[in-house]
Amino acid sequence: MQRIAPALRQDNVPLDLISLIKTVLAACKEISFRVGQGHLSGVMGSTLDENIQGEVQKELDVVSNQLLKDILLESGFVKAISSEEEDTSVAGNENGKYIVSFDPLDGSSNIEINSLIGTIFSIMEAPEGMSADNPDMFKQPGVNQVCAGYVLYGPATILALTTGKGTHFYTLDKTHGSFMLTERNVMVSEETSEFAANMSNQRFWHKPMQNYINDLVAGTDGARERNFNMRWIAAMVGDVHRVLVRGGLFTYPADTKDPKKPYKLRLMYEANPMSFLIEQAGGLSVTSEGRIMEMQPTDIHQRVEVILGSKNEVEKCLSYYK
Ligand code: AHG
Ligand code: MN
Ligand code: MN
Ligand code: MN
Repeated sequence: MQRIAPALRQDNVPLDLISLIKTVLAACKEISFRVGQGHLSGVMGSTLDENIQGEVQKELDVVSNQLLKDILLESGFVKAISSEEEDTSVAGNENGKYIVSFDPLDGSSNIEINSLIGTIFSIMEAPEGMSADNPDMFKQPGVNQVCAGYVLYGPATILALTTGKGTHFYTLDKTHGSFMLTERNVMVSEETSEFAANMSNQRFWHKPMQNYINDLVAGTDGARERNFNMRWIAAMVGDVHRVLVRGGLFTYPADTKDPKKPYKLRLMYEANPMSFLIEQAGGLSVTSEGRIMEMQPTDIHQRVEVILGSKNEVEKCLSYYK
């Protein structure tokens, strides 16, 4: 089994980017350790504060954000960071080559039930001619990502990583503290009989998505003439990990529940990095209108509709919108 740095060197990833990835992972290892300690870590509760997304922050949201932010801004590689838990981007080294966006703790509602949670990150090059405190640096389409990944804090701590040369899985060896390459070139199956959506929102979805999901649920009695299984982990890291491992369609569609908030997932911290991982594994990641990674962002905290996973199933879903 190969450690992560030699595996990345083999893929001709630049040395400074390898160092930056290792820096992100240093913070993730510490988060993994704290998560593994459960209540003994003393950071499993809630705060009284709200983040810019309008969500009450859990202690682990705050601690994970601080760990990633501190280590990245101290590293020298990073010109600025943006995070789900920060009001705006935060400046780092004016001469840093990269910018990093992250969801420090994905699946916050799973913390208290000891279920799947993770960290999602996305790395781009800093554009020329903008100062480190300018959040506009982050308004680049997802196709500009040079690296994306998530670390899933499950029974095992698993990293899914891409630098544009396939999606690979690494497993944290907790005795030595190294991420070891455990599966190269993960591929999302083209066909699937499994879907993931928060069904309690069904009545608020737009008609095409309602019709598509109705046909899945109808099983052998409906237009699809076969049965589909449903799973919902309530942490995108967990659901996307399952899709990478055994295929599936994951969606957080547009809904009309709150007219001011038609989408839930965040483009920078969730949708773009997951899209890069899924596409590099042969899957599709789209909105009902087009490829997510081609979207031109207008705001760092922008939210977006997400439909991703097994190629043929995502295409089938999109056919309901035509
Ligand atoms: P976060 O915990 O980072 O705020 O993200 C939660 C997101 C995503 O991980 C998950 O797919 C979705 O919210 C769950 O939504 P529901 O609460 O509607 O199930
Ligand atoms: Mn949140
Ligand atoms: Mn999240
Ligand atoms: Mn989060």
